[in-house]
Amino acid sequence: MPVSETTSSAAIPFHQSVRRSTLEAHQRANHSPFMDALFDGRLAVADYARLVEQYSFVYGALESVSDTLAAHPVAGPFVIDTLRRRDRIAADLDFFRVTDPEPLPSTERYAARIREVADWPAGFVAHHYTRYLGDVAGGQAVAALLPRRYGVTGGGTAFYDFSDLGPVPRFREHYRALLDAAPWDEAERARVVDEVKTAYELNIAMFHDLWDRAEPAAA
Ligand code: HEM
Repeated sequence: MPVSETTSSAAIPFHQSVRRSTLEAHQRANHSPFMDALFDGRLAVADYARLVEQYSFVYGALESVSDTLAAHPVAGPFVIDTLRRRDRIAADLDFFRVTDPEPLPSTERYAARIREVADWPAGFVAHHYTRYLGDVAGGQAVAALLPRRYGVTGGGTAFYDFSDLGPVPRFREHYRALLDAAPWDEAERARVVDEVKTAYELNIAMFHDLWDRAEPAAA
């Protein structure tokens, strides 16, 4: 019997196929001008605070959808309370004295898409994966950067504190096992991969908007 695309891709654990199929988008998100400037120490602290301000809307949407799906048989296990970032974002915004958060147009579109997938649990998982697994992994580099390149000390980095999660490698294993165990057929898995790509694009658009508004020092 010829091996079809479907049967051959079924041999790869789903978490690996998500990661591989979205590597290119990850690279573009990671190297968007705003992120590159952030890593090079070329932004102002206010620009970083504006990113956290946007996160308040993204995680506000993610975590209100989390509330509605907490008991769902497939999406529910992904709703892990120690991942929740809303209170931490509020503490960081307080630290940076951002009192009246305003969403950028791209952030509004991102949050709207997250709310739209509230009735598509697999789509919610796609958005959940893109943000939280990324924060647990690459986010740690930002946490180290803030004091080193921007002199941010004594607060402002609560967002990246995942110490309540236990050892990160074990958490990542657990999360990947949840992805692999989700009872999605090949067509649904393909839709999840597409939604992860959409989530990356929504992030990239948000970084683009932030870059447009970055302080002159960044130019
Ligand atoms: C700020 C610059 C970034 C850096 C330095 C970075 C770095 C990393 C690193 C080192 C990993 C771990 C790879 C591994 O476990 O093998 C990772 C994973 C990940 N990152 Fe990023 N990243 C960045 C930005 C982003 C952004 C903006 C997003 C999404 C909006 C994102 C989403 C992810 C996801 C979902 C994973 C998990 C991949 C998987 O294991 O399935 N990252 N990142």
